[in-house]
Amino acid sequence: MTFTEAGTARPSLTDPEPYLPEPRGAVSQFLFDSLVQPPHSLGPAPASTDDALLGDDAALALYLCYELHYRGWAGVDATWEWEPSLLALRRSLEDRFIQALFHVVGPPAPCTDVEGYLVDLLGRGSGPSLSGYLRDTGTIDQFREFAVHRSAYQLKEADPHSWALPRLSGPPKAALVAIQCDEYGRGDSFDMHSSLFAETLLALDLDPDYGAYLGHVPAVTLTTVNLISLLGLHRRWRGALVGHLAIFEMASVGPNTAYGHGLRRLGMSPEATRFYDVHVTADAVHQVLARETLAGGLARAEPAISGDIAFGARAIMATEERFSRHLLGAWGAERSSLYRPLPQ
Ligand SMILES: [Fe+2]
Ligand SMILES: [Fe+2]
Repeated sequence: MTFTEAGTARPSLTDPEPYLPEPRGAVSQFLFDSLVQPPHSLGPAPASTDDALLGDDAALALYLCYELHYRGWAGVDATWEWEPSLLALRRSLEDRFIQALFHVVGPPAPCTDVEGYLVDLLGRGSGPSLSGYLRDTGTIDQFREFAVHRSAYQLKEADPHSWALPRLSGPPKAALVAIQCDEYGRGDSFDMHSSLFAETLLALDLDPDYGAYLGHVPAVTLTTVNLISLLGLHRRWRGALVGHLAIFEMASVGPNTAYGHGLRRLGMSPEATRFYDVHVTADAVHQVLARETLAGGLARAEPAISGDIAFGARAIMATEERFSRHLLGAWGAERSSLYRPLPQ
């Protein structure tokens, strides 16, 4: 924790590595048991039989592999990141993940008007409105759960999309740099969107440390992060990563306005809403840049991957729809939406 001149508590920007979360089945147990040892060649891993998108064991196993490429895990040797046998296991999990996604949203198919496609896709919506619910009806406990879910991504906000930078050129690359510049606070570490989200967590009386709630979030949430990590780590999927980011930016202003209103309705402080308020302003600009110059520009520069851009857009819409349905379904049944509920 650090303090501003005004004495306001702000989250630490030097978070330690996260702790390995508890395993949730045979594959995540196998990985957990291996990662706590010195790097070595993995023996045969148990077959993953979980639903590749919604199974807790499969989702956590993939997340365990991916986090090695971000901050790593406390007590886990960094050399594991490029251990070939671990990468082979990751690949088998990714193959199942991608096949499951193809099943849900269809594989990439040619797309001649990417910008129009993105607008149409967004216009069709993605199921029930989580943001509308939180604006009008959500309780403070539900907002706290929502923040816990989102902490899995928003404390590493923008990082996976940055993997596209060395893989783009010309106007799409410049557009992505402009977007990421804002995401990273234009040089002020306290204004990084991940830092603003840590402030929101603090204001909601939650732990702002990176990875603090990984043991609490269900597969449907881990999958939203695994999707970005997968698209980000594979140059082959750079078009899909761009499509993912374009929808992310284009779908931001309305929901973030709603989250801010919901928190104010509940009497929360400006520290709680700043993350959402900043997005309303920033993404009014980002949504245009992302659609026209980033996604549209990439489609014009590389027409052969236009279908991948559209696929990435469909993939985020589908995973976000499942996420929203899960939270609203749990709350509608008056139970926690978390894998492991927060202590009262
Ligand atoms: Fe952001
Ligand atoms: Fe943005």
